Amino acid sequence: MDAKGSIDHLANPEQVQKAILLYSGGLDTSCMVKWIQEQYDAEVVALTLDLGQPDVDLDRAKQKALDLGATEAYVEDAKHEFADDYVAKAIKANAMYQGQYPLSTAIARYLVCKKAVEIAEQENADAIAHGATGKGNDQVRFESGILSLDPEIEVLAPVREWSMTRDAEIEYAESKGIDVEADEESPYSTDENLWGKSSECGPLDDPASEPPKDVFQFVTPPEEAPSEPQHVDIGFRKGVPVSLNGDEKMLYELVQELNSIAAEHGVGIIDTVEDRVVGLKSREVYECPGATTLIKAHSDLEKFCSTKHENKLKQKHDREWAEMAYNGLWFDPVTEHIEGFIDSMNQNVTGSVEVKLYKGKAAVVSRESKNALYDKKLASYEKGETFNQEASPGFIQLHSLQTKLSNRVND
Ligand code: ARG
Repeated sequence: MDAKGSIDHLANPEQVQKAILLYSGGLDTSCMVKWIQEQYDAEVVALTLDLGQPDVDLDRAKQKALDLGATEAYVEDAKHEFADDYVAKAIKANAMYQGQYPLSTAIARYLVCKKAVEIAEQENADAIAHGATGKGNDQVRFESGILSLDPEIEVLAPVREWSMTRDAEIEYAESKGIDVEADEESPYSTDENLWGKSSECGPLDDPASEPPKDVFQFVTPPEEAPSEPQHVDIGFRKGVPVSLNGDEKMLYELVQELNSIAAEHGVGIIDTVEDRVVGLKSREVYECPGATTLIKAHSDLEKFCSTKHENKLKQKHDREWAEMAYNGLWFDPVTEHIEGFIDSMNQNVTGSVEVKLYKGKAAVVSRESKNALYDKKLASYEKGETFNQEASPGFIQLHSLQTKLSNRVND
Protein backbone atom coordinates (compact mmCIF):
# COMPACT_ATOMS: atom_id res chain seq x y z
CA MET A 1 0.00 0.00 0.00
CA ASP A 2 1.20 3.50 -0.74
CA ALA A 3 1.75 4.94 2.73
CA LYS A 4 1.48 8.51 1.48
CA GLY A 5 -1.97 7.79 0.08
CA SER A 6 -3.34 6.46 3.33
CA ILE A 7 -1.54 8.37 6.03
CA ASP A 8 -2.63 11.98 6.33
CA HIS A 9 0.46 13.43 7.90
CA LEU A 10 2.89 12.31 5.20
CA ALA A 11 3.80 14.95 2.65
CA ASN A 12 2.61 14.51 -0.90
CA PRO A 13 5.40 15.11 -3.44
CA GLU A 14 3.02 16.98 -5.73
CA GLN A 15 2.00 19.41 -3.06
CA VAL A 16 4.98 20.31 -0.92
CA GLN A 17 6.36 23.71 -1.72
CA LYS A 18 8.59 24.45 1.19
CA ALA A 19 10.09 22.02 3.71
CA ILE A 20 11.97 22.74 6.92
CA LEU A 21 14.77 20.19 7.11
CA LEU A 22 16.20 19.18 10.49
CA TYR A 23 19.76 19.52 9.37
CA SER A 24 22.78 18.18 11.28
CA GLY A 25 25.39 19.00 8.65
CA GLY A 26 26.23 15.29 8.33
CA LEU A 27 26.01 12.98 5.36
CA ASP A 28 22.34 11.89 5.57
CA THR A 29 20.82 15.29 5.97
CA SER A 30 23.19 16.85 3.43
CA CYS A 31 21.97 14.34 0.84
CA MET A 32 18.44 15.30 1.85
CA VAL A 33 18.92 18.94 0.95
CA LYS A 34 19.52 17.83 -2.63
CA TRP A 35 17.07 14.93 -2.63
CA ILE A 36 14.09 16.98 -1.46
CA GLN A 37 14.77 19.65 -4.04
CA GLU A 38 14.93 17.00 -6.76
CA GLN A 39 12.23 14.54 -5.75
CA TYR A 40 9.70 16.94 -4.29
CA ASP A 41 10.60 19.91 -6.41
CA ALA A 42 10.37 21.88 -3.18
CA GLU A 43 12.25 24.67 -1.49
CA VAL A 44 14.41 23.52 1.45
CA VAL A 45 15.00 25.58 4.58
CA ALA A 46 17.59 24.05 6.92
CA LEU A 47 17.45 24.18 10.71
CA THR A 48 20.45 23.25 12.86
CA LEU A 49 20.51 23.39 16.65
CA ASP A 50 23.38 23.43 19.06
CA LEU A 51 22.30 21.03 21.81
CA GLY A 52 25.73 20.80 23.37
CA GLN A 53 27.10 18.22 20.93
CA PRO A 54 30.89 18.60 20.70
CA ASP A 55 32.54 20.08 17.64
CA VAL A 56 29.34 21.68 16.44
CA ASP A 57 30.16 24.41 13.98
CA LEU A 58 26.94 26.25 13.34
CA ASP A 59 28.45 28.62 10.77
CA ARG A 60 29.85 25.74 8.81
CA ALA A 61 26.54 23.87 8.86
CA LYS A 62 24.76 26.99 7.70
CA GLN A 63 27.18 27.52 4.81
CA LYS A 64 27.04 23.86 3.84
CA ALA A 65 23.22 23.91 3.66
CA LEU A 66 23.24 27.10 1.60
CA ASP A 67 25.89 25.70 -0.74
CA LEU A 68 23.65 22.68 -1.34
CA GLY A 69 20.82 24.93 -2.40
CA ALA A 70 18.85 25.55 0.80
CA THR A 71 17.09 28.89 0.39
CA GLU A 72 17.59 29.70 4.05
CA ALA A 73 19.56 28.08 6.86
CA TYR A 74 18.67 28.76 10.47
CA VAL A 75 21.14 27.95 13.19
CA GLU A 76 20.23 28.29 16.81
CA ASP A 77 22.11 27.95 20.04
CA ALA A 78 19.58 25.93 22.04
CA LYS A 79 21.93 24.40 24.59
CA HIS A 80 20.81 26.42 27.60
CA GLU A 81 17.16 25.80 26.77
CA PHE A 82 17.94 22.11 26.39
CA ALA A 83 19.63 22.03 29.79
CA ASP A 84 17.04 24.11 31.65
CA ASP A 85 13.81 22.75 30.16
CA TYR A 86 14.65 19.17 29.18
CA VAL A 87 17.71 17.89 31.08
CA ALA A 88 16.43 19.42 34.35
CA LYS A 89 13.17 17.48 33.98
CA ALA A 90 15.06 14.27 33.28
CA ILE A 91 17.14 14.76 36.43
CA LYS A 92 14.09 15.42 38.59
CA ALA A 93 12.51 12.27 37.12
CA ASN A 94 15.70 10.19 37.65
CA ALA A 95 15.01 9.29 34.05
CA MET A 96 16.37 5.90 33.01
CA TYR A 97 14.45 4.02 30.35
CA GLN A 98 14.27 0.34 31.37
CA GLY A 99 16.49 1.27 34.28
CA GLN A 100 19.50 1.91 32.06
CA TYR A 101 19.27 4.60 29.40
CA PRO A 102 19.18 8.27 30.51
CA LEU A 103 17.13 9.20 27.40
CA SER A 104 19.77 11.54 26.06
CA THR A 105 18.76 11.24 22.42
CA ALA A 106 15.06 11.00 23.21
CA ILE A 107 14.53 14.20 25.20
CA ALA A 108 16.45 16.34 22.71
CA ARG A 109 14.07 15.37 19.91
CA TYR A 110 11.21 17.30 21.48
CA LEU A 111 13.12 20.55 21.60
CA VAL A 112 13.97 20.02 17.94
CA CYS A 113 10.23 19.51 17.21
CA LYS A 114 9.35 22.69 19.06
CA LYS A 115 11.91 24.78 17.17
CA ALA A 116 10.98 23.21 13.82
CA VAL A 117 7.30 23.99 14.27
CA GLU A 118 8.14 27.59 15.19
CA ILE A 119 10.33 28.04 12.11
CA ALA A 120 7.74 26.31 9.89
CA GLU A 121 5.14 28.81 11.01
CA GLN A 122 7.47 31.74 10.53
CA GLU A 123 8.50 30.52 7.08
CA ASN A 124 5.02 29.46 6.06
CA ALA A 125 6.38 26.02 5.23
CA ASP A 126 4.04 23.12 4.57
CA ALA A 127 6.28 20.25 5.66
CA ILE A 128 9.03 19.30 8.10
CA ALA A 129 11.66 16.75 7.01
CA HIS A 130 13.67 14.65 9.45
CA GLY A 131 16.58 12.27 9.00
CA ALA A 132 15.34 9.30 11.04
CA THR A 133 14.93 5.79 9.64
CA GLY A 134 11.78 3.69 9.51
CA LYS A 135 12.98 1.23 12.16
CA GLY A 136 13.78 3.44 15.07
CA ASN A 137 12.27 5.53 17.83
CA ASP A 138 13.28 8.89 16.51
CA GLN A 139 10.76 8.87 13.66
CA VAL A 140 8.06 8.26 16.28
CA ARG A 141 9.32 11.12 18.45
CA PHE A 142 9.71 13.57 15.59
CA GLU A 143 6.40 12.84 13.97
CA SER A 144 4.33 12.50 17.14
CA GLY A 145 5.99 15.60 18.54
CA ILE A 146 5.50 17.71 15.42
CA LEU A 147 1.91 16.62 14.91
CA SER A 148 1.05 17.22 18.56
CA LEU A 149 2.27 20.79 18.20
CA ASP A 150 0.86 21.44 14.73
CA PRO A 151 -1.66 18.92 13.39
CA GLU A 152 -1.78 20.66 10.01
CA ILE A 153 1.86 20.27 9.09
CA GLU A 154 3.05 17.39 6.95
CA VAL A 155 6.10 15.26 7.50
CA LEU A 156 8.74 14.00 5.14
CA ALA A 157 11.12 11.18 6.07
CA PRO A 158 13.52 10.75 3.14
CA VAL A 159 15.52 7.85 4.65
CA ARG A 160 12.27 5.86 4.90
CA GLU A 161 11.59 6.57 1.25
CA TRP A 162 14.85 6.58 -0.62
CA SER A 163 15.99 3.06 0.35
CA MET A 164 19.66 3.71 -0.41
CA THR A 165 22.33 1.52 1.17
CA ARG A 166 25.20 3.29 2.91
CA ASP A 167 27.40 2.78 -0.15
CA ALA A 168 24.72 4.05 -2.51
CA GLU A 169 24.30 7.08 -0.31
CA ILE A 170 28.02 7.83 -0.36
CA GLU A 171 27.94 7.49 -4.12
CA TYR A 172 24.91 9.80 -4.34
CA ALA A 173 26.67 12.33 -2.09
CA GLU A 174 29.80 12.28 -4.22
CA SER A 175 27.78 12.73 -7.39
CA LYS A 176 26.21 15.86 -5.85
CA GLY A 177 29.52 17.30 -4.69
CA ILE A 178 28.82 16.66 -0.98
CA ASP A 179 32.00 16.05 1.04
CA VAL A 180 32.00 12.68 2.73
CA GLU A 181 34.02 13.13 5.89
CA ALA A 182 36.17 10.46 7.48
CA ASP A 183 33.86 9.90 10.44
CA GLU A 184 30.98 9.32 8.06
CA GLU A 185 32.69 6.20 6.79
CA SER A 186 32.57 4.86 10.36
CA PRO A 187 30.38 1.76 10.84
CA TYR A 188 28.50 3.36 13.74
CA SER A 189 25.40 5.47 13.70
CA THR A 190 25.72 8.01 16.46
CA ASP A 191 23.81 10.85 18.03
CA GLU A 192 25.25 13.19 20.61
CA ASN A 193 24.26 16.11 22.80
CA LEU A 194 24.96 17.54 26.23
CA TRP A 195 23.19 14.62 27.97
CA GLY A 196 25.10 11.85 26.24
CA LYS A 197 26.13 9.96 23.17
CA SER A 198 24.29 7.04 21.54
CA SER A 199 25.96 4.54 19.23
CA GLU A 200 24.32 1.82 17.17
CA CYS A 201 24.95 -0.39 14.13
CA GLY A 202 28.04 -2.00 12.64
CA PRO A 203 29.74 -4.44 15.02
CA LEU A 204 27.30 -3.41 17.78
CA ASP A 205 24.51 -5.23 15.96
CA ASP A 206 25.88 -8.46 17.40
CA PRO A 207 24.71 -8.43 21.03
CA ALA A 208 26.95 -11.41 21.78
CA SER A 209 30.17 -9.52 21.21
CA GLU A 210 31.79 -6.87 23.38
CA PRO A 211 31.77 -3.39 21.85
CA PRO A 212 35.04 -2.64 20.04
CA LYS A 213 37.11 0.02 21.77
CA ASP A 214 36.79 2.47 18.89
CA VAL A 215 33.13 3.10 19.82
CA PHE A 216 34.27 5.00 22.87
CA GLN A 217 35.33 8.41 21.70
CA PHE A 218 33.94 10.18 24.74
CA VAL A 219 34.33 8.07 27.89
CA THR A 220 37.70 6.55 28.82
CA PRO A 221 37.42 2.76 29.11
CA PRO A 222 37.36 2.11 32.89
CA GLU A 223 40.47 -0.06 32.82
CA GLU A 224 42.41 2.91 31.42
CA ALA A 225 40.98 5.42 33.89
CA PRO A 226 43.19 7.01 36.59
CA SER A 227 44.00 4.78 39.53
CA GLU A 228 43.21 7.58 42.00
CA PRO A 229 39.53 8.31 42.67
CA GLN A 230 38.12 11.81 42.36
CA HIS A 231 35.33 13.23 44.54
CA VAL A 232 32.83 15.73 43.22
CA ASP A 233 30.38 17.69 45.32
CA ILE A 234 27.06 18.46 43.64
CA GLY A 235 24.67 21.00 45.13
CA PHE A 236 20.93 20.72 44.35
CA ARG A 237 18.13 23.23 44.74
CA LYS A 238 14.59 21.86 44.41
CA GLY A 239 15.92 18.84 42.57
CA VAL A 240 18.05 20.74 40.07
CA PRO A 241 21.86 20.75 40.24
CA VAL A 242 23.10 24.28 40.90
CA SER A 243 26.71 23.93 42.00
CA LEU A 244 29.77 21.83 41.39
CA ASN A 245 32.47 21.62 44.06
CA GLY A 246 30.99 24.67 45.72
CA ASP A 247 30.81 26.89 42.62
CA GLU A 248 27.36 27.97 41.45
CA LYS A 249 26.86 27.20 37.78
CA MET A 250 24.27 27.34 35.05
CA LEU A 251 22.99 23.81 34.46
CA TYR A 252 24.49 23.66 30.98
CA GLU A 253 27.99 24.45 32.25
CA LEU A 254 27.64 22.16 35.23
CA VAL A 255 26.70 19.17 33.08
CA GLN A 256 29.39 19.92 30.56
CA GLU A 257 32.07 20.15 33.24
CA LEU A 258 30.88 17.03 35.00
CA ASN A 259 30.79 15.21 31.66
CA SER A 260 34.48 15.71 31.21
CA ILE A 261 35.43 14.83 34.80
CA ALA A 262 33.29 11.68 34.91
CA ALA A 263 34.28 10.65 31.38
CA GLU A 264 37.92 10.72 32.39
CA HIS A 265 37.10 8.27 35.18
CA GLY A 266 35.34 5.87 32.84
CA VAL A 267 31.88 6.62 34.21
CA GLY A 268 28.71 6.33 32.13
CA ILE A 269 29.28 3.53 29.65
CA ILE A 270 26.03 1.66 29.15
CA ASP A 271 25.75 -1.44 26.98
CA THR A 272 22.17 -2.64 26.70
CA VAL A 273 19.64 -4.43 24.54
CA GLU A 274 16.64 -2.17 24.58
CA ASP A 275 12.97 -2.46 23.57
CA ARG A 276 12.16 0.06 20.89
CA VAL A 277 8.75 1.65 20.44
CA VAL A 278 8.26 -0.17 17.13
CA GLY A 279 8.68 -3.57 18.77
CA LEU A 280 12.26 -4.35 17.81
CA LYS A 281 14.99 -5.10 20.27
CA SER A 282 18.20 -3.23 19.57
CA ARG A 283 21.70 -3.25 20.98
CA GLU A 284 22.70 0.21 22.11
CA VAL A 285 25.87 1.62 23.53
CA TYR A 286 25.63 4.89 25.43
CA GLU A 287 28.21 7.17 26.92
CA CYS A 288 26.49 9.34 29.50
CA PRO A 289 29.02 10.31 32.17
CA GLY A 290 27.34 13.45 33.50
CA ALA A 291 23.85 11.95 33.34
CA THR A 292 24.88 8.79 35.18
CA THR A 293 26.56 10.79 37.94
CA LEU A 294 23.80 13.36 38.34
CA ILE A 295 20.96 10.86 38.41
CA LYS A 296 22.74 8.78 41.04
CA ALA A 297 23.30 11.90 43.13
CA HIS A 298 19.79 13.24 42.64
CA SER A 299 17.98 10.02 43.45
CA ASP A 300 20.05 9.56 46.59
CA LEU A 301 19.27 13.05 47.85
CA GLU A 302 15.61 12.76 46.92
CA LYS A 303 15.27 9.54 48.88
CA PHE A 304 17.05 11.15 51.83
CA CYS A 305 14.54 14.02 51.89
CA SER A 306 11.30 12.11 51.24
CA THR A 307 9.10 9.68 53.12
CA LYS A 308 8.97 5.99 52.38
CA HIS A 309 5.54 6.47 50.80
CA GLU A 310 6.74 9.32 48.63
CA ASN A 311 9.75 7.32 47.53
CA LYS A 312 7.62 4.36 46.58
CA LEU A 313 5.23 6.41 44.47
CA LYS A 314 8.06 8.44 42.98
CA GLN A 315 9.63 5.35 41.47
CA LYS A 316 6.40 4.54 39.68
CA HIS A 317 6.03 8.08 38.36
CA ASP A 318 9.67 8.16 37.27
CA ARG A 319 9.21 4.97 35.32
CA GLU A 320 6.08 6.29 33.64
CA TRP A 321 7.78 9.58 32.79
CA ALA A 322 10.69 7.74 31.18
CA GLU A 323 8.27 5.62 29.13
CA MET A 324 6.42 8.70 27.88
CA ALA A 325 9.68 10.44 26.95
CA TYR A 326 11.02 7.34 25.24
CA ASN A 327 7.81 6.58 23.39
CA GLY A 328 7.37 9.92 21.65
CA LEU A 329 4.70 11.21 24.01
CA TRP A 330 6.41 14.25 25.54
CA PHE A 331 3.54 16.53 24.56
CA ASP A 332 0.78 14.25 25.85
CA PRO A 333 -1.08 15.81 28.80
CA VAL A 334 -0.29 12.83 31.00
CA THR A 335 3.42 13.70 30.83
CA GLU A 336 2.59 17.08 32.33
CA HIS A 337 0.40 15.51 35.00
CA ILE A 338 3.24 13.19 36.00
CA GLU A 339 5.57 16.17 36.08
CA GLY A 340 3.18 17.83 38.53
CA PHE A 341 3.87 15.01 40.98
CA ILE A 342 7.59 15.02 40.23
CA ASP A 343 7.91 18.77 40.75
CA SER A 344 5.92 18.69 43.91
CA MET A 345 8.22 16.04 45.37
CA ASN A 346 11.32 17.90 44.28
CA GLN A 347 10.39 20.99 46.29
CA ASN A 348 12.28 19.42 49.20
CA VAL A 349 15.24 18.12 47.28
CA THR A 350 17.79 20.71 48.30
CA GLY A 351 21.20 19.82 49.62
CA SER A 352 24.47 18.39 48.48
CA VAL A 353 25.84 15.02 47.50
CA GLU A 354 29.40 13.85 47.22
CA VAL A 355 30.13 11.30 44.54
CA LYS A 356 33.32 9.29 44.23
CA LEU A 357 34.34 8.62 40.65
CA TYR A 358 36.62 5.69 40.20
CA LYS A 359 37.34 3.36 37.30
CA GLY A 360 33.89 3.38 35.75
CA LYS A 361 31.92 3.74 38.97
CA ALA A 362 30.09 6.71 40.41
CA ALA A 363 29.35 5.98 44.06
CA VAL A 364 27.52 8.34 46.39
CA VAL A 365 29.63 8.61 49.53
CA SER A 366 27.95 11.41 51.44
CA ARG A 367 24.79 13.51 51.43
CA GLU A 368 23.60 16.50 53.42
CA SER A 369 20.33 18.40 53.48
CA LYS A 370 18.42 20.66 55.80
CA ASN A 371 15.32 18.78 54.58
CA ALA A 372 16.67 15.34 55.35
CA LEU A 373 14.12 13.17 57.12
CA TYR A 374 17.03 11.20 58.48
CA ASP A 375 17.60 13.99 60.99
CA LYS A 376 15.07 13.19 63.72
CA LYS A 377 15.14 16.72 65.13
CA LEU A 378 13.86 18.03 61.85
CA ALA A 379 11.45 15.21 61.12
CA SER A 380 8.15 16.94 61.86
CA TYR A 381 5.98 13.85 61.45
CA GLU A 382 7.54 12.09 64.47
CA LYS A 383 5.95 12.73 67.84
CA GLY A 384 8.30 11.35 70.45
CA GLU A 385 11.80 12.67 70.89
CA THR A 386 13.33 9.24 70.81
CA PHE A 387 12.30 6.04 69.15
CA ASN A 388 10.20 4.00 71.58
CA GLN A 389 11.44 0.44 71.27
CA GLU A 390 8.72 -0.80 73.61
CA ALA A 391 6.13 0.08 70.97
CA SER A 392 7.73 -2.21 68.41
CA PRO A 393 6.38 -5.60 69.56
CA GLY A 394 2.80 -4.29 69.46
CA PHE A 395 3.40 -2.93 65.99
CA ILE A 396 4.85 -6.26 64.85
CA GLN A 397 1.88 -8.12 66.24
CA LEU A 398 -0.55 -6.14 64.11
CA HIS A 399 1.79 -5.90 61.15
CA SER A 400 1.96 -9.70 60.85
CA LEU A 401 -1.71 -10.33 61.64
CA GLN A 402 -2.97 -10.88 58.07
CA THR A 403 -0.11 -13.22 57.25
CA LYS A 404 -0.69 -15.28 60.39
CA LEU A 405 -4.43 -15.56 59.68
CA SER A 406 -3.85 -16.59 56.11
CA ASN A 407 -1.24 -19.19 56.95
CA ARG A 408 -3.48 -20.68 59.64
CA VAL A 409 -6.37 -21.08 57.20
CA ASN A 410 -4.46 -22.11 54.10
CA ASP A 411 -1.66 -24.45 55.10
N1 ARG B 1 17.98 3.99 21.03
C1 ARG B 1 18.17 5.35 21.42
C2 ARG B 1 16.86 6.05 21.45
O1 ARG B 1 15.94 5.63 20.85
C3 ARG B 1 19.21 6.06 20.63
C4 ARG B 1 18.94 6.36 19.19
C5 ARG B 1 20.13 7.07 18.68
N2 ARG B 1 20.18 7.31 17.31
C6 ARG B 1 21.31 7.05 16.57
N3 ARG B 1 21.37 7.52 15.38
N4 ARG B 1 22.28 6.35 17.04
O2 ARG B 1 16.71 7.06 22.08
